[in-house]
Amino acid sequence: MNDISQLLENFRPPAFPGSLFLSFEGIEGAGKSTQIVRVKEYLESKDFRVLVLREPGGTSFGEKLRQAILGSKNPIHPVSEMHLFASSRAQLLTEVTMKELNTPGTVVIYDRYIDSSIAYQGKGRGLGTETILKTHQTFPLTLMPHKTFYLKIDPELSYRRQKIRNAPKDYFEKQGLEFYQKLVEGYEEALAYFPNRIAAIDGSQGEMEVFEQIKGQLDQILFRESKEY
Ligand SMILES: Nc1ncnc2c1ncn2[C@@H]1O[C@H](COP(=O)(O)OP(=O)(O)O)[C@@H](O)[C@H]1O
Ligand SMILES: [Mg+2]
Repeated sequence: MNDISQLLENFRPPAFPGSLFLSFEGIEGAGKSTQIVRVKEYLESKDFRVLVLREPGGTSFGEKLRQAILGSKNPIHPVSEMHLFASSRAQLLTEVTMKELNTPGTVVIYDRYIDSSIAYQGKGRGLGTETILKTHQTFPLTLMPHKTFYLKIDPELSYRRQKIRNAPKDYFEKQGLEFYQKLVEGYEEALAYFPNRIAAIDGSQGEMEVFEQIKGQLDQILFRESKEY
C-alpha cells in the first residue's frame, strides 16, 4: 500500500483556470454515451465550450492504434495492450486536451480514461492496478480528471442492454460474463484508490435519475466560489 500511495501522489488535474476535465467510466451498456450527451447539453446551456473525446483516437496516430486494437484478429498481449492505450492517451492529452483546456470556459469530457485501463488491462487482463499506475507516472499521463463519473451496472444488465442495442461485438465485447465481472472488480479497485475523484453512480436507475445525480455533483464543482477548478 505504501508503494501505491507514492504512485498516487503524482496524479493531479490539469491547472487551467476556468476549464474542466471530466471522464465517464463503466462497462459496456452502463450509459456513458447517453449521459455524456445530456451533460454536454447541460454544460453548453451554462455557456461552456464542450469537447467529447474517446480513446484510442482523436489524433491520426490514435486512430491507427484504434484500428490495431479493436480490429485485431490475433490476441494482443496485455502489456502491448496497456502500452497502446497509454501511447494514444499521451498523444491525445498533448495534441488536443491540454491545448483546448488552455481556453478558459472549456470542458473536455473523456468517454473512458485511466480507470478503464485499471479495469480492462489491470483486472481483466490481470496486469494489476499497480502496473497501470506505474505506467502513468510520467507527464502528461499523470493528468487526472477533476471528476470521474463511474456508472455502475452489473454484467447481466450490461448483456441485456447490449442485446437491445444489437451492436456488432468488438474485440472486448466478445469476452464472457466472467470477464465483465472482473471489470466491475477493477472499477471497484479504482474507486478505492481515487475516492475523491471518482463518483460512483447506480447506472441501473432510469436515465433521468442518473443524470440528476451527475448534475448534482457537477453543480457542486461549477458553483463553488473559486473558479480555480
Ligand atoms: N439509465 C438507463 N436505463 C435504461 N436504458 C439505458 C439507460 N442508459 C442507457 N440506456 C440504454 O442502454 C444502451 C447502452 O447505453 P450507452 O449510453 O450506449 O452505454 P455505454 O456508452 O456505456 O456503452 C442504450 O441502448 C441506451 O439507450
Ligand atoms: Mg458508449
